[in-house]
Amino acid sequence: MPRAASKGVGMAKPARAGYVCQSCGAVSARWAGKCAACGEWNSITEETDAGPPPGSGVTKATKGRIVKLESLAGSTDDAPRIKTSIAELDRVTGGGLVPGSALLIGGEPGIGKSTLLLQLAAGLARNGHKALYFSGEEAIAQVRLRAERLGLRDAPVGLASETNLGNILATLTDAGRVALVVIDSIQTLWADAIEAAPGTVSQVRAATQSLIRHAKQQGAALLLVGHVTKDGNIAGPKVVEHMVDAVLYFEGDRGHPFRILRAVKNRFGPTDEIGVFEMAGAGLVEVANPSALFLSGRDTASPGTAVFAGVEGTRPVLVEIQALVAPSPLGLPRRAVVGWDANRLSMLIAVLEARCGISFASHDVFLNVAGGLKISEPAVDLAAAAALLSSLSNVALPHDQVFFGEISLSGAVRAASHMTTRLKEAQKLGFTRAALPEAGDIDAAAVHLKLQRLTHLKELADTIASCD
Ligand code: TYD
Ligand code: MG
Repeated sequence: MPRAASKGVGMAKPARAGYVCQSCGAVSARWAGKCAACGEWNSITEETDAGPPPGSGVTKATKGRIVKLESLAGSTDDAPRIKTSIAELDRVTGGGLVPGSALLIGGEPGIGKSTLLLQLAAGLARNGHKALYFSGEEAIAQVRLRAERLGLRDAPVGLASETNLGNILATLTDAGRVALVVIDSIQTLWADAIEAAPGTVSQVRAATQSLIRHAKQQGAALLLVGHVTKDGNIAGPKVVEHMVDAVLYFEGDRGHPFRILRAVKNRFGPTDEIGVFEMAGAGLVEVANPSALFLSGRDTASPGTAVFAGVEGTRPVLVEIQALVAPSPLGLPRRAVVGWDANRLSMLIAVLEARCGISFASHDVFLNVAGGLKISEPAVDLAAAAALLSSLSNVALPHDQVFFGEISLSGAVRAASHMTTRLKEAQKLGFTRAALPEAGDIDAAAVHLKLQRLTHLKELADTIASCD
């Protein structure tokens, strides 16, 4: 037997998928409890092949057509944009929806995905664009109820409760020129050619592929809602995230009204911008000044809180970091963190112990980012350290001071990006002083705060200890 055939390359019979990992899409001939490719447990289910049926002739190699090769230089217009009526969404997408593009939006159940997309569809429809909304999760009555609550009943959105992919594609073809197509959600769709349950790899992949092809042909912006798994990733195959042009996450804490829309992939714009919304009685309201929102209700007199002057994308965001350091009755004290990386907290505590001689060994440490915001910027280190030290020594920090700066393992305070932007935002909100890295340039003419420039974490520890 030739080697190629034994490896399955160039075989005459098309390979029939057997067991497919729902996490990574790897195909195996036998069921197993653990996927050999990605190591995920309990992720393998039986599926039949999503490819063309045997004997249809499609798998036969056809002679290729010579394609025209282009040079890199050449004039290409900027992607045209459809401005939505939601400025925060325009900011995250990089200026509005791109016709013919596909966008995936993920988020936990109940976070407000359907609400956001209904508001988006209604806004576009009111501006004379044709917007279609296919709900696979809710009945027409439920969507209508939401529309009534949002005051959007009069918007001429085309609404259907449908899960059959073929029916949706036929409706799209019939509808002619459409600006926006919303699919809520991609996991509920099923193509009858595929013998697998809705939400499985082959169904989700086939549905996404057909819809994207359709949207590209029609020049419609396609918005897909994706479920998330319990660890916060969009459920289904990663390949869907690769197929779409942009992936947005809608996050927030259900106990808080704030919702953050974040781009993690964007072929047409930046990936570091966030949109901030507030879930109110009448739907999602845009928040133009997030700092004021995140600092509202701040308890300025208690020890253990520090204000971090952060930057999300190009926008400054001030947020309160809260720490509680309390004597622990346990042999192995607890460290818990909400809104920040737990490893980063462990690292910070280790640096405080090793470089500043401050021990947390007999204390439980809790750290919380107020307002349900998740922070991934390294510059938050200094604010977190200030909150920890303040709580440990039971000394309240000045209520009009902000902190930012990355801390290295040696305890050195390293420069942060956009330092002037951070300081100007603090100034605008009435802060009068800031603790920040010695390194890094700032526009001194624009900043009137009292600055404490730090080179080492120890200087901050000494300042807080001397207030005792
Ligand atoms: P929804 O958009 O259905 O979430 P998802 O599609 O992400 O699952 O939002 C549901 C939540 O939002 C629900 O808990 C109620 C709340 N909500 C409001 O607070 N105000 C409103 O005007 C609407 C429509 C929903
Ligand atoms: Mg929903």
